[in-house]
Amino acid sequence: NVLILDFGSQYTQLIARRVRELNIYCEIHPFNKLPENLEEFKAVILSGSPFSVRAEDAPHPDLSNIRGKVPMLAVCYGAQYLAHFHGGKVEPSETREYGRANLSVIKDQELLFDEITENSQVWMSHSDTIKELPENGVRLASTHDVLNAAYRIDGEETFAIQFHPEVYHSTDGKQLLENFLVKICGVEQEWTPEAFVDMTVEDLKKQIGDDKVVLGLSGGVDSTVAAVLLNKAIGDNLYCIFVNNGLLRKNEFESVLDQYKNMGLNVKGVDSSARFLDALAGISDPEEKRKTIGRVFIEVFDDEAHLLTDVKFLAQGTIYPDVIESISVNGPSATIKSHHNVGGLPDFMKLKVVEPLRMLFKDEVRRVGAEMGIDPELLGRHPFPGPGLAIRILGDITAEKVRILQEVDHVFIQGLKDWKLYDKVWQAGAILLPVSSVGVMGDERTYEKVVALRAVESTDGMTADWVNLPYDFLQKTSNTIINRVKGVNRVVYDISSKPPATIEWE
Ligand code: XMP
Repeated sequence: NVLILDFGSQYTQLIARRVRELNIYCEIHPFNKLPENLEEFKAVILSGSPFSVRAEDAPHPDLSNIRGKVPMLAVCYGAQYLAHFHGGKVEPSETREYGRANLSVIKDQELLFDEITENSQVWMSHSDTIKELPENGVRLASTHDVLNAAYRIDGEETFAIQFHPEVYHSTDGKQLLENFLVKICGVEQEWTPEAFVDMTVEDLKKQIGDDKVVLGLSGGVDSTVAAVLLNKAIGDNLYCIFVNNGLLRKNEFESVLDQYKNMGLNVKGVDSSARFLDALAGISDPEEKRKTIGRVFIEVFDDEAHLLTDVKFLAQGTIYPDVIESISVNGPSATIKSHHNVGGLPDFMKLKVVEPLRMLFKDEVRRVGAEMGIDPELLGRHPFPGPGLAIRILGDITAEKVRILQEVDHVFIQGLKDWKLYDKVWQAGAILLPVSSVGVMGDERTYEKVVALRAVESTDGMTADWVNLPYDFLQKTSNTIINRVKGVNRVVYDISSKPPATIEWE
């Protein structure tokens, strides 16, 4: 078990991902909330930080309980922290130390640099520089601009590096992490999807016993994998509820419900389309739409949960990035909290919560799902927002607009699959614009809707680039949409990146 101590760097999650890619389990904890069982960790990694160690409010936790006792790798801020607070000297850099650099290793007999080639490319991102090493510091490597690019503390398994091994641009970064964790700390590489499934099923059995659990399925990857895990552990004591809010993709409710049943899940499909559409009537404001859908969902789910007796747990498909956000150095984001206003909580929200995926990243969830035999097509589905097509219909929502957009979306998504483009795209969909435009069909003038197509590449949805789809594909898709979908006479393609645009239009 590896501890990553987070000083608030944008790269902290990446460290965890790299470690997990080595099949090693790790946890991120904020520097100001140190876990109690410190001695149990086999290795500690200190992250980078947006702070300068010279700032008055610089993160400055007391690490005397682990320093020298548990092997430590200090990255960037971590390296400066070790220097600054332990007899070294950190000063503002004279030259810009941002981007690629090449490492010249001085102490190449060090295990930390085993199998790492001379001049290996590393990624730098810092504005302070370590002028003098801390007490007992021994320089291990330099770059052209950074004298103390890596050092260790003599007599301890404590290492420090100024560059970021977790960033892909550090070509040997993963090797360095492996050297530290496996060769130096002797951590076993046992964290595999298979091991995770076995361990989690056992834990769930213990935690839940013979009690009943309710879970809301969304058709997405996370809730599906969570359900299959729970089903393995407690069988039909897991009651799944899959709500049709009327804003799903064409035929999605029926086809996904069938899939769930074929997977042996104890699932009830609840078609509440009319209830959602009624509640949304006349609402154009995006936030208002989201709130309305969230509220109606809770009402529907609460009604359904009340039909079940003796339910003790509410299961959720929460994954690690959500958990990290809520415990991070910067605290949870404001919007996440607004749902959980104490007092008026629906009954099902008072249940005990069980979250079997709370320590997994998205790609790990997919691997675990594959391990359990879930259909690769379901696991490879694009993300789809909870409010569904409601936030892709600009302006107010009507059943007719939903129908038009479902048809357009269907042509687009099916086309991507037929052209083998679906898996090259991170997310795709269509947007119904609140404008009509003039067209001509046969000898007739038309005045109909405009739709926009959107396809993006991304890793986590935080940033995104529009995808350079082949012109042939766009041409064919546009033709099919206009010929097939009544009410649409114009198709445009969105060529904006995020930032400054967002993926969705609302
Ligand atoms: P934006 O539009 O913010 O979207 O660039 C980033 C990712 O988040 C999804 N998204 C949502 N998902 N509820 C959700 O469950 C929402 O209200 C919501 N809004 C955006 C979006 O589809 C994209 O993947």
